[in-house]
Amino acid sequence: TILVLDFGSQYSHLITRRLRELNVYAEMLPCTQKISELTWKPKGVILSGSPYSVYAKDAPHADPAVFDLGVPILGICYGLQELAWALGGTVGGSDKREYGHALLKPVDEHFLFEGIDDFQVWMSHGDKISALPTDFKVIATTDNAPFAAITHTSKHIYGIQFHPEVTHTKQGKKLFHNFAINVCKCEQNWTMENFIDTEIERIRTLVGPTGEVIGAVSGGVDSTVAAKLLNTAIGDRFHAIYVDNGVMRLNETKQVYDTLTAGLGINLKIVDASDVFLGKLKGVTDPEKKRKIIGNTFIEVFEEESAKLDAASGGKIEYLLQGTLYPDVIESISFKGPSQTIKTHHNVGGLLENMKLKLIEPLRELFKDEVRALGTLMGIPEELVWRHPFPGPGIAIRILGEVTPSQVEIARKADYIFIEEIRKAGLYNKISQAFACLLPVKSVGVMGDQRTYEQVIALRAIETVDFMTADWYIFEANFLKTVSRRIVNEVAGVARVVYDITSKPPATVEWE
Ligand code: XMP
Repeated sequence: TILVLDFGSQYSHLITRRLRELNVYAEMLPCTQKISELTWKPKGVILSGSPYSVYAKDAPHADPAVFDLGVPILGICYGLQELAWALGGTVGGSDKREYGHALLKPVDEHFLFEGIDDFQVWMSHGDKISALPTDFKVIATTDNAPFAAITHTSKHIYGIQFHPEVTHTKQGKKLFHNFAINVCKCEQNWTMENFIDTEIERIRTLVGPTGEVIGAVSGGVDSTVAAKLLNTAIGDRFHAIYVDNGVMRLNETKQVYDTLTAGLGINLKIVDASDVFLGKLKGVTDPEKKRKIIGNTFIEVFEEESAKLDAASGGKIEYLLQGTLYPDVIESISFKGPSQTIKTHHNVGGLLENMKLKLIEPLRELFKDEVRALGTLMGIPEELVWRHPFPGPGIAIRILGEVTPSQVEIARKADYIFIEEIRKAGLYNKISQAFACLLPVKSVGVMGDQRTYEQVIALRAIETVDFMTADWYIFEANFLKTVSRRIVNEVAGVARVVYDITSKPPATVEWE
């Protein structure tokens, strides 16, 4: 395992990412981690970049014990300056901030650059070192950085000013290969198959021979993959609960039931609480209130059901399954500077506060695409593995205004047609998320000889990498024509269809 110490750079998690792509296991911890408190010995340490300057009063510093571990160390950007700072070099403010592409010039052949033939690298820094620490030498320069890469003359300590973890550094992955595999001698055994075996063993040991686990499933990829892992590890001692909140998509509950039980053999209980949810949503139009009501009601229903299951099992339920992914974990462990409190991902909407359950999070080391790969390996249907995300509050936040059973029906049917056509056109996997929104306005139309006065459906389809920013999807005109015709003809209550051509920002993905 490689230990990645995070000093708060926006790129830190990409270091872990690149190492995993080499099948090398890496774990990221905040730079404040005490080395004496580590329960495992890393084979190498990487110090990340940071928005700080090492000489700033509140600059973060690594535990000096890092340098006594006796394992290879690679400092990236701030990590390089941290090395220099800790080992007696000098770091100065650069006269100009260097940001963007640069061409690295190796001083002579060095094994850190083995196999690299394109030396385009990405720079993003303000400070740079102005004098080498004792016993260090330069191994590469750029036009603007005489100390672009340095190494200790006898120890495996390296510092690089550029960012090999970002894709703008053309062959950054090779550099990680050279460091992790050639220098640190890490094994390339972090594969999904190994992950499944280890995780199943870990779950069995944790839960013991008679313990039981509960968990909510939504029909989305994360909760399904997590549930399948638990089911493989402990069979029916894992109880999945699916709460039908009345604002899921058309036919969704039945589909989830069929896939999870008949398809995947998961011990699943469907709780139909539609009336409870819709009852509480009556008269509510404020989006945040809708979210709160749905979130709180979910907790109430889930707690009630788990209490029943616990009683039925004779009090053997000890664990709650959560489909937490690595990005949530990163969010909670990243170094945020001394002034910011660190957010905890354990805050799952208050679920754990009342329930005396321990958490089990089998996906907490995985990125989304790794969860998908795992799902495919575990036999989860491709259609589910590649499903678009669906918000917890469901179509309640896609019905602007009051959520009533008849509005739910209109929104559901329109959404169903849109998605069906997207699938037919072979576009589903090209689009990141698509849905229909029901607007609380009426507009005049004409059908046959009749004047109509009905509501408007807005279609939304976006492409995005991370959902932080998004572009609207450009459909062929004929595709939109088909969808519009079908919705107006087949969904009673809709007289007009519009397409949302706003990117995020300034708009959000959802309408509420
Ligand atoms: P926005 O609308 O914030 O959406 O641009 C970004 C992504 O988040 C999803 N989303 C939610 N997911 N509960 C959820 O579980 C919510 O309240 C919620 N609001 C937005 C949205 O579907 C999109 O994928």
